Amino acid sequence: MSQDALPSLSQTSALIRARRSLKPTDCEAGRPVAPELWRELLENATWAPTHGMTEPWRFHVFEGAARARLGDALQQAYRDATPEAEFRADKFDKLAANPRLAPLVVAVVLERRGGAKIPEIEEVEAVACAVQNLMLSATAAGLASFWSSPPVLDAPPFKAWLGLGDEDRCVGLIYLGWPRAGLTPARSSRQPLANKLVHHHD
Ligand SMILES: Cc1cc2nc3c(=O)[nH]c(=O)nc-3n(C[C@H](O)[C@H](O)[C@H](O)COP(=O)(O)O)c2cc1C
Repeated sequence: MSQDALPSLSQTSALIRARRSLKPTDCEAGRPVAPELWRELLENATWAPTHGMTEPWRFHVFEGAARARLGDALQQAYRDATPEAEFRADKFDKLAANPRLAPLVVAVVLERRGGAKIPEIEEVEAVACAVQNLMLSATAAGLASFWSSPPVLDAPPFKAWLGLGDEDRCVGLIYLGWPRAGLTPARSSRQPLANKLVHHHD
């Protein structure tokens, strides 16, 4: 591809800095995300770097009534896996509510099929890159995105419900939807680069 066909660095910087975590409650209820759009976002996700070409990501897309089934499964797994003293009604309620609020939920799974050749951390890193591709693409399309990682994703009953193997992991639920009209833009900040930079030079 010629350089001319690519977005400029300043456009890319603007896109990266414009991405904000917008919660399912920030989404316009009932406005769907067209299949051709979410498929393009997921295609972009698959263009993440992948050591050994293991492409360890799998995407479970929940739409329509399937979102309620996901919410119910999360609640059930939370009830099964949480000791009574630690049970929190607010968390329990949110597990069912969030998937019903956003029109699309993508459960992003790390599938370990590469054997011992590629360390697990590198598979996690590749999947995280795929999620970033997904969320930046969503931002470019004007969609809200939110990465949620409740501990119940690692609970055996939830993993079994999703059909995961022992070594597989659901690394997050990505909520996608159209931001509600009139939403005050979310604010976020980062520390100055100088706090994070070690510059080795002569
Ligand atoms: C691996 C990962 C897991 C996350 N899980 C959650 C979560 O469970 N709940 C939550 O409120 N935010 C979660 N976030 C989103 C962060 O809270 C968010 O990125 C941070 O507040 C910065 O806001 P910004 O994304 O708008 O810049 C997660 C982010 C990452 C990278």
